Amino acid sequence: MKTITINDLKPGMFVVGVTRQDGHVRVKSQGWVRTQGAIEALQKAGVLEVEIDPDKALQAKQQTPPEHNEAAQQDNVTVHDPWHKTTSVDAELDLATALYEEAKGIQEKAFADVKAGKAIAVEEFKQTASGFIDSIFRNQDALACIARIREKDSYLLEHSLNVSILMSIFAKHLGLERNIIEQLATGALLHDIGKIKISNEILNKPGKLSDDEYHLMMDHAKYSYEIVAQSGLGQIATEIAGFHHERLDGSGYPFGKKADELSQYVRMAAIVDVYDALTAERVYKVGLTPIRAFRILKEGTPDHYDADLLAHFINCIGVYPVGTLVKLKSERIGIVASSNPKEPLKPVVKVFYHAKNMLYTEVKDIDLADKRVTDELEAAIKPEDFSIDLIRFFRHTMMP
Ligand SMILES: [Fe+2]
Repeated sequence: MKTITINDLKPGMFVVGVTRQDGHVRVKSQGWVRTQGAIEALQKAGVLEVEIDPDKALQAKQQTPPEHNEAAQQDNVTVHDPWHKTTSVDAELDLATALYEEAKGIQEKAFADVKAGKAIAVEEFKQTASGFIDSIFRNQDALACIARIREKDSYLLEHSLNVSILMSIFAKHLGLERNIIEQLATGALLHDIGKIKISNEILNKPGKLSDDEYHLMMDHAKYSYEIVAQSGLGQIATEIAGFHHERLDGSGYPFGKKADELSQYVRMAAIVDVYDALTAERVYKVGLTPIRAFRILKEGTPDHYDADLLAHFINCIGVYPVGTLVKLKSERIGIVASSNPKEPLKPVVKVFYHAKNMLYTEVKDIDLADKRVTDELEAAIKPEDFSIDLIRFFRHTMMP
């Protein structure tokens, strides 16, 4: 155990108790502080000193010393480098996983609250968004990886989390200000909250919806607009919730707005929402590869989607985004663990399977950009073609 001042408390640390305060905080239970927002809340409540358990810190594996991190963050303010990383993907995965799981719980609760006619807990959403963005600024590959490898059956929850993560990565790539990214991420978390008012029969219908069903379904964006407007989360979040299905030529729903009424933020949300829906595995449909999803989005320009923003998005996500299952020329199969923006075809691949032998192998990082490595990337593949249970592998091998 170690006692530290509140100023030294960092996200990822495990707090055992409060040792000094000038308020009357009673900490409910021991646990990890996951976001800067949670630390600020403790600070505001008068907490001066806490006891932590260093052995349980989620970022115990962080490789860069804090001085370096600060310098890096300063760099970020002056020179915008969307690919800058202050920690390795392996070091970030633990915290990112914890954040993702916690966010899922908050989403679930919000859906239940709205169903029960209660207001949504706005602060929790702001903190979730802020935690995501912190993680993305340390190393975006961790959350991107988690967002890509998903369960098939909790689409509604995970789709909203993933759109929020992808929106934040996209916004960071465009060099938008932190406070704007936070509003975008929060809006994205809630963009489909209106679906709570649509019947499960329609939401989960595997086949095509009838005209009547489709009309009912379209209303979800109207409900999302109302719910987020009432929550007081502000204009940007409200627009994302209400207008993410609007299209530049006015053919979208539910309001039929046209280009001049659709902000850059809404245009970003439209792209990200469709991209995630197309690439998602569902119980009844196989997800498309990123390349195919990009192609479909491109066909929708300039009538539906903003062509410039789409080009930026494709550049930001890349043809082989982290989390993609790939086969190497050597027949080894693995997932892209870290992107390489300078040479997009040479990412770091975590291999774990041999395609010809059909056997799991030792897990190993192969950096295709390393001059000593002779292997090459062959193609993105589908897990089902090799009977690989990717989610099981990922959750059991790579996550805590
Ligand atoms: Fe939607």
